[in-house]
Amino acid sequence: MLALAPMAGITDASYRQLIKKVAPQTIVFTEFLSSDALAYGAERTLQMLQYDPEIERPFIVQIFGASPQKFLEACKVIEQIGADGIDINMGCPAAKIVSSCYGSALIRNPSLAAELVHAATNAVSIPVSVKTRLGWDTTDTLIPFCKGLVDAGAKALSVHGRRYNDKFSGVANWEPMYALKREVSVPVIGNGDISSAEDAIEKIGNLDGVMVGRGTFGNPWVMKEISEVFETLKERDAESGTWKVDVEKCSIQNSHALLPENRLGVFRERLPFILDHCELSVKMKGEKRGVLEMRRHLSSYIKGFDGAKELRMKVLTLEDYQDVRSMLSSV
Ligand SMILES: Cc1cc2nc3c(=O)[nH]c(=O)nc-3n(C[C@H](O)[C@H](O)[C@H](O)COP(=O)(O)O)c2cc1C
Repeated sequence: MLALAPMAGITDASYRQLIKKVAPQTIVFTEFLSSDALAYGAERTLQMLQYDPEIERPFIVQIFGASPQKFLEACKVIEQIGADGIDINMGCPAAKIVSSCYGSALIRNPSLAAELVHAATNAVSIPVSVKTRLGWDTTDTLIPFCKGLVDAGAKALSVHGRRYNDKFSGVANWEPMYALKREVSVPVIGNGDISSAEDAIEKIGNLDGVMVGRGTFGNPWVMKEISEVFETLKERDAESGTWKVDVEKCSIQNSHALLPENRLGVFRERLPFILDHCELSVKMKGEKRGVLEMRRHLSSYIKGFDGAKELRMKVLTLEDYQDVRSMLSSV
């Protein structure tokens, strides 16, 4: 299994569709959405539920919150739009989220966490999963916490290999996830610091899949490389559950490891694709906002070749799609 990590401000419909275009097997998640706002019918949040059912399957909507009643109402809305699953955020470390007892604060409140899963699973017939972290300030709680979620009805778990305390610092620790997988019956997807197919193969261990977030920035092609390598994973070791990697069969592509002299040529080859991304963003959000939001993606695409730094400065001045086209056609 390969999943695109939910990322606020990034995994909107245009980004998800772009990823599906390069790696059709990917499971896509929305940005996290407030369950309260969905329950109230807040227009802006409802707009964020827009997706293309022809392209974005399986389509998972991620929600956050702390009220079982609001979860129940929000989940019904999500089921009605035809989503394939609902994921509950129990990992976000942002201060304004944690101070309302949302996100990773739920790790410190396992009974409320289980209640939320219970409310969601009772409200809908589509599967409910949870994305969490290794723990709050220790990894010792991961297994009992996740067992409680599974008992409450969670059908899958994805785990970011950091504790709340770590925020985004240090290196993701995958060992506790392997231990968790040995203790629960549901699929476990590992997440943290994957930016190449090599990383994915090295880290998957006994897990059911990997989820990639920042590794896709400026390099959505990494998802294709990972899904190609995963196709060679057919067998697990009977005792440990670890995937057997057939090194002969998996010729690992690694777009991050391009030689400097090849980077400009590869960038030019990818230009039509990058323009499609801009076009989609403009189509979904209108010209002004679409181009504004594309600036960060363009800055990630434009890296590693002579003149890239100057171009990235120009990106900050782009106002409309025509500006984007003219700038890119000059590369
Ligand atoms: C900009 C940004 C926004 C994020 N937003 C969310 C979110 O909405 N929901 C969530 O569960 N995690 C969110 N995350 C965490 C990612 O899903 C992921 O767990 C984390 O980035 C580690 O994976 P990576 O090393 O592959 O990026 C976000 C991360 C980033 C960088």
